[in-house]
Amino acid sequence: MRLDRYLAARTGLTRSESRKAIAKGRVAVEGAVCRKADTQVPEDAAILLDGAPLAGAYRKFVYLMLNKPAGVVSASRDKRDTTVVDLAATAYPRRALFPAGRLDKTSTGFVLLTDDGALAHDLLSPAHHVAKEYLVTLDTPLTGAMQAGFAAGVTLADGRRLAPAEVGPAGADPCVVRVTLRQGVYHQIKRMFGVFGAGVNALHRLSIGGVALDPALAPGQWRELTAEELALLQGRAR
Ligand code: URA
Repeated sequence: MRLDRYLAARTGLTRSESRKAIAKGRVAVEGAVCRKADTQVPEDAAILLDGAPLAGAYRKFVYLMLNKPAGVVSASRDKRDTTVVDLAATAYPRRALFPAGRLDKTSTGFVLLTDDGALAHDLLSPAHHVAKEYLVTLDTPLTGAMQAGFAAGVTLADGRRLAPAEVGPAGADPCVVRVTLRQGVYHQIKRMFGVFGAGVNALHRLSIGGVALDPALAPGQWRELTAEELALLQGRAR
C-alpha cells in the first residue's frame, strides 16, 4: 500500500494530512525517515509517526501513556495552559482524546489518554478499586502515625472518610514515599498528608492498574499502550 494511504488508514489522518506529515519528515519506515508519499509499504511495516509506532490494524480506540510534565493541566482544552491532550493531539487530529483521571497541574507522571469512554469510566469507578501508585516527596519524614492512618482510612478535614491506602518508604530518604490509592478524590494525597501536618513538595504517578509508566518517556513524551498493557487495564477495570 502507498505510505500516505497506509498512514491515513491507521491514524485517522486524511490523505492530505498524511502527505503533509510525510513531507515534514514526521514519518519513519523501518527506522528511516521517509518523505515520499508514494513509497510502497507492506501491511506489517514498522512505521513511526512522531516517533510512536502505528499499530498494525485500524483501532476503534486509542490508548496513550503520557509522562505529564509539571505545569501542564489534566484537561482536553484550556484557555491559558497547555493540556495533556495538546501534547499528543497533533498525531491524532480526528480523535477526541481526553485524560482518564487527573493529576494536579504541579504533579507529574503517568496520565492515560484515550477516546474510549467506557474503559475510562470503568477505570475511574470507585467500585473497581483500580490501584494507582505515586512517588511523593514530603516536607517532613514519614511517621508511623501516617502509615497507620493511611492503612485504617484517613478522615479528611471536611469529615470525609477515605478508603484504606498504603504508604511506605521509597528508599533511604525518609521524606520520599510510595503511596497506593484505590480511589480518586480531588487533591487526595495532598489532603491526606495534610491531616498529619505534612506538605507535599512533589508528586509523580508511577503506575495505573499495574501498568508502569515507561521510564524511557521523558516529561512530555508519550507512546501507545502495548497490547499487553491494554489487556491488563481492561482486566483490572472489570
Ligand atoms: N493526589 C493529589 O493530591 N494530587 C494529584 O495530582 C494526585 C493525587
